Amino acid sequence: METSQTLTLDECREQALIEAAKQACDHAYAPYSRFTVGAAVLTKSGAVYVGCNVENVSYPVGTCAERNAIAAAVSAEGSGMQICAMTIMARNDGTEAPCSPCGACRQALREFGHDISVVYRWPALELTRSSSAALLPDTFSFAKSPEASR
Ligand code: THU
Repeated sequence: METSQTLTLDECREQALIEAAKQACDHAYAPYSRFTVGAAVLTKSGAVYVGCNVENVSYPVGTCAERNAIAAAVSAEGSGMQICAMTIMARNDGTEAPCSPCGACRQALREFGHDISVVYRWPALELTRSSSAALLPDTFSFAKSPEASR
């Protein structure tokens, strides 16, 4: 018999994806900012791929967790890879911290998940459930704008 604590499949998946992002966060290389980030993506195939931020002494060379997760997914599944959901978990000097995806990562996410679920902690530590479309409306593309096609 189901109890009120029984998780739906979606909640189970969300929790698993959050755990995957936390584990990826443990692997982050962030000696300069001490802000470690982990991201996990669930693809249409049902697979999960993770990424963490990897900093560099030459600061601009550093990469974000979200884009590293996306790169891992494309590397594994090929150019047809499509994302269903992404979770992002972060720590500041070892303490759980809010982290919404940066602008560049929002753009990267829209490329592979046009309107997909994105879960992260923001503005404090509350779990925020948003979407890639809400996070970056009017995203740049080569398609004509509605105005231009009139
Ligand atoms: N960072 C991410 O990995 N993802 C984000 O969306 C925001 C920022 C990383 C980059 C850098 O290594 C550290 O967090 C501090 O900015």
